[in-house]
Amino acid sequence: MNDSPSITTDRLTKRYGSNTAVEQLDLAIPSGAIYGFLGPNGAGKTTTIRMLTTLITPTEGTAHIMGESITDRPAVIPHIGYLPEKPPIYDELTAREQLEYHGGLCDMAPSDIEDQITSLLDRFDLTDDADDRISTYSKGMKQKTGLIQALMHRPDVVILDEPTSGLDPQAARTVRDTINELAASDTTVFLSTHILPLVEEVATEVGILYDGELVAEGPPDALKERMETGEEGTLEDVFLDVTTDTTYDGQAEADPSGKIE
Ligand SMILES: Nc1ncnc2c1ncn2[C@@H]1O[C@H](COP(=O)(O)OP(=O)(O)OP(=O)(O)O)[C@@H](O)[C@H]1O
Ligand SMILES: [Mg+2]
Repeated sequence: MNDSPSITTDRLTKRYGSNTAVEQLDLAIPSGAIYGFLGPNGAGKTTTIRMLTTLITPTEGTAHIMGESITDRPAVIPHIGYLPEKPPIYDELTAREQLEYHGGLCDMAPSDIEDQITSLLDRFDLTDDADDRISTYSKGMKQKTGLIQALMHRPDVVILDEPTSGLDPQAARTVRDTINELAASDTTVFLSTHILPLVEEVATEVGILYDGELVAEGPPDALKERMETGEEGTLEDVFLDVTTDTTYDGQAEADPSGKIE
């Protein structure tokens, strides 16, 4: 890891009508970090990622990837490898055709495209299926194809939205190892997931979003030590601690059903 930030956001905000999906988000993520971006359903994780990857425009605030403003799409996009919730791949192509097409879009040299495809297909155990149409693939095979696509142009910043979704344990382990290798070679990994053990294992830094706001940030161990209870907990304990409605005043109250909350 070095100290120059590869992802920065400054008061990054997205509103949909009266709903604020992301509110005044400030991030500074150093190169080579593995940033675990957590939050309950609807917290604003995908919205943040869609702003970082230039797919939607912020309502307010700015963000930079490798020093380039997200308002300058042609300058930013080559730095990013992005795996969205649903991989952007064409059913009618084979995985090899899809990856060759993507490599071309990324201006990779033809020999480099072939080398990267061969090595990444092998890594994700997809070589034998690479010439079948994507329409015949299982969910996990599509996910692997999307992952290879996100990595093959060797981006400086890899943004993964639920990368292990649909993967079997073996493939999930390959993803985990790949994330560690990327960070070791100074690639920044921005990892959004609900799989807290994965984050606990790989993340150098964690940010927890709740209702569009960053409510906790720090290295996993530091967050665990800062539990409000004073006791060291797991990342799941921290997550539940900071994403539970804080209007609760600590007093047990009877609700109409008679249950004590
Ligand atoms: N295109 C849209 N139009 C209107 N509201 C939207 C749109 N996209 C997202 N939202 C709203 O923004 C908020 C954040 O949604 P987002 O998809 O970013 O959550 P998330 O943290 O990725 O959740 P999940 O864990 O379920 O993937 C939600 O209230 C959602 O309804
Ligand atoms: Mg999401």
